[in-house]
Amino acid sequence: MRVLVIGSGGREHALSWALSASPLLTKLWVAPGNPGTALIAENVAISAIHIERLVQFARENEVDLVVPGPEGPLVAGLTDAMAEAGIFCIGPTAAAARLEGSKAFAKQLCDDAAIPTALWEQFTDAEEARDFIRRRGAPVVVKADGLASGKGVVVASTVEEAEAALDAIMRDRAFGDSGAAVVIEECLAGEEVSLFALCDGTDAVFLGAAQDHKRLGDGDTGPNTGGMGALSPVPGFDAAAAMDGFIRPVLAEMARRGTPFHGVLFAGLMLTADGAKLIEYNVRFGDPECQALLPRLRSDLLPALLAACDGELGRFDLRWTDNASVAVVMAAPGYPAAPEPGSDIGDLSAAAAVPSALVFQAGTRVEGGRLLADGGRVLTICGTGADLAAARAVAYEAVGQVPWQEGFYRRDIGLRPSSPATP
Ligand code: AMP
Ligand code: GLY
Repeated sequence: MRVLVIGSGGREHALSWALSASPLLTKLWVAPGNPGTALIAENVAISAIHIERLVQFARENEVDLVVPGPEGPLVAGLTDAMAEAGIFCIGPTAAAARLEGSKAFAKQLCDDAAIPTALWEQFTDAEEARDFIRRRGAPVVVKADGLASGKGVVVASTVEEAEAALDAIMRDRAFGDSGAAVVIEECLAGEEVSLFALCDGTDAVFLGAAQDHKRLGDGDTGPNTGGMGALSPVPGFDAAAAMDGFIRPVLAEMARRGTPFHGVLFAGLMLTADGAKLIEYNVRFGDPECQALLPRLRSDLLPALLAACDGELGRFDLRWTDNASVAVVMAAPGYPAAPEPGSDIGDLSAAAAVPSALVFQAGTRVEGGRLLADGGRVLTICGTGADLAAARAVAYEAVGQVPWQEGFYRRDIGLRPSSPATP
């Protein structure tokens, strides 16, 4: 099998790492990849958004399977374009990727399929949205309808904050056309869990559950980020019930509408006092959740992805180790607002040599033989162990072996939200 992974983050490094272990693999490319993927695959200098060039490359190089990491190319029709060229791409069509590409679409689908979610209203008129916010009061959640690189959601504790979010999204178009509509939601409280399933249009297999740590600082303080770390599995989480409640009804409804969903479906859940409720769907693996999930997978990922393309997942059973894993993100100074590029990371071999540790690269580049920071989230260091405490110990031991002086990280990744945040 000749496989092309698309993306350049820690998630794509982890996907490439998992795929490179497959005996079925004969050639692995990553577009555009990073210096970490270059160690195990051949990087191709094509950006993830250049769909035509990706199709041309896949055609010319007889790629058998395309494995996209990020949502952007899927929402923009990557899978459709590959299908036209006769190439399997394990991700949803643009029509099915609307589950992530439009919050209002996902919320309407929840209502149609009786999937529990926060109460919501959609607005295309800013003044109507403002009236609604004022009538409803705070706390309230304001969301840009379209993609906004994870930044289009404001959980507002005051009406003023909600109105400011509305102005940024609809009036100032901080996220461009993604702000042509807003979704305003009831604010839910509880612990968050990310549920992952691999889907083939009709059947789904469980890919694991994880918890992200979205805030920048220890003890869940500071601004929201793309994710500063993840743990898996989530103790006490009833994955079978969540698959029945939040994955299978989506597949049935999408198939009924004539837009069956193939690929990784990621349900972001809030475990409220009234039971689990859907916060959002994503149509891909999470980052850094992927880096925490894949080291626990015992089965070969490649045939599972192929089966998901083929509609053959019904016969598939993925096997997992009993281990837990903890993934710690190391970020550049200034992240998330304005990460400073160019600091010297140093030699990662001591960190990678820590037993049961894995080093995944994201925002890195090589210049003059030196590995430099080149983005916000720069490294994900993953540890596995018999339980979360053991996995945490491995991850932080490896973090301690990274010579990068400027890099920073949270010290409480892998502690449950209810645990005290001690380093
Ligand atoms: P999203 O981009 O939809 O994942 O939202 C980002 C984050 O905002 C989520 O992970 C939650 O922490 C928070 N969030 C989104 N919707 C709600 C809601 N209805 N109630 C409370 N928090 C929310
Ligand atoms: N870590 C959350 C996400 O990838 O959306």
